[in-house]
This record gives sequence, structure tokens and C-alpha cells, in this order.
Amino acid sequence: MKLRIITSNPGKAVEFRHALGGLGFDIEHGDEDCDEIQADTLQEVVLSCLSQLRGRGLGDYALDDSGLFIDALDGFPGVYSSYALRTIGIDGILRLLDGREDRSARFECCIGCSFRGEELTVQGKCEGTIAHRPSGTGGFGFDPIFVPSGYDGTFAEMSIDVKNGISHRGRAIQALSAALKEKV
Ligand code: IMP
Repeated sequence: MKLRIITSNPGKAVEFRHALGGLGFDIEHGDEDCDEIQADTLQEVVLSCLSQLRGRGLGDYALDDSGLFIDALDGFPGVYSSYALRTIGIDGILRLLDGREDRSARFECCIGCSFRGEELTVQGKCEGTIAHRPSGTGGFGFDPIFVPSGYDGTFAEMSIDVKNGISHRGRAIQALSAALKEKV
């Protein structure tokens, strides 16, 4: 099954290629423009992108919107994650958590897919905590400060296969693969 992954983030493209390649998909990478609307949920952003890309002759494709939701900050940065990373950065997030005991957080991912003219969305979550300082050089974005539950290290300290096995995106990709395999 051929699937084009639409993203301008090379880190996401690599994770999709690893995970879906291993599940028997033939992956292509595309970088199509889609305006990220300001919305309250990841799914609204994804549905908007799907509708913006509709009719462009892209074949079967998938894209994702993800966010880091920190409990002590009432879910911030959440849907504002890319803005927060660009502006206050990882150090800014750590400063906001200075002196807070509760460092629990979760990554969430919503994947939207257009397959044989039908559109679907799937979700994945990964619970964890925010580290006190960044560590690791792998991955991208907030990976150096996110420690998934049950692990000692951050996402940035894991191999891509280990991260994909437990991450929000990896779980959403599993759900996508199952949904698409039902359709063929
Ligand atoms: P978006 O899905 O590209 O809008 O991502 C929102 C922000 O969260 C971006 O700054 C990403 O770098 C970051 N992000 C998304 N997924 C991950 C991940 O798997 N690990 C770390 N940061 C991520």
C-alpha cells in the first residue's frame, strides 16, 4: 500500500517511514502547504488540513498534528506546542515548571488520512513526566525533556524503534495501519 506522508518536519517523516515501512507500507514523503488553523483540538487542525489538501491529486496520504499537554500548566502548550517551542523553547517550558511538584504530562497525536477518497482520523497518546533538564540528542522538538511512563530516559535518549513502540505517534500509526488494512 502506497502512502504519502505530508509533513515539513523531517523528524516526523523518519518516524512514519520507520513505523509504516515495517508494517508493509510503501512510504513517500511530501511537503504540501497547509495553513495550521488556531483551534482547540488537534483533531480540528487535522480535519482542516485534510480539507485544504482535498482535490490536489495527492493520491493516498496522511498527516499528523501533535502536542505536549502538561497538567500543572492546565494542558499548555497543547495545541500551541509549535508556537511555544519556537518562542519560549524547552528552557521556557522548564522555567514554567520551576518549583512545581507535579510534572506529569502527555503527548497526543492525531493522524488524518485520505485513503481511496475516504477520510479518517486516528489518535494516540503517551503518558509521562517532564524531566528537570534536557537530555539526549535523538528525536526532535520536546523529546529531550519528555520521559515516558515506565522509562528512566527521555524520548531523545531512545532509538527510533523504541520511541515508535510507545509514543503518541507510534500508537496512532498502529491504529492507522489497522484501520487501513481493514479497507483493502
Ligand atoms: P506539530 O504537530 O508539528 O504542530 O507539532 C507541535 C510541536 O510539538 C512541534 O514543535 C513539534 O516539534 C512538537 N512535537 C510533535 N511531536 C513531537 C514528538 O514526537 N516529540 C517531541 N516533540 C514533538
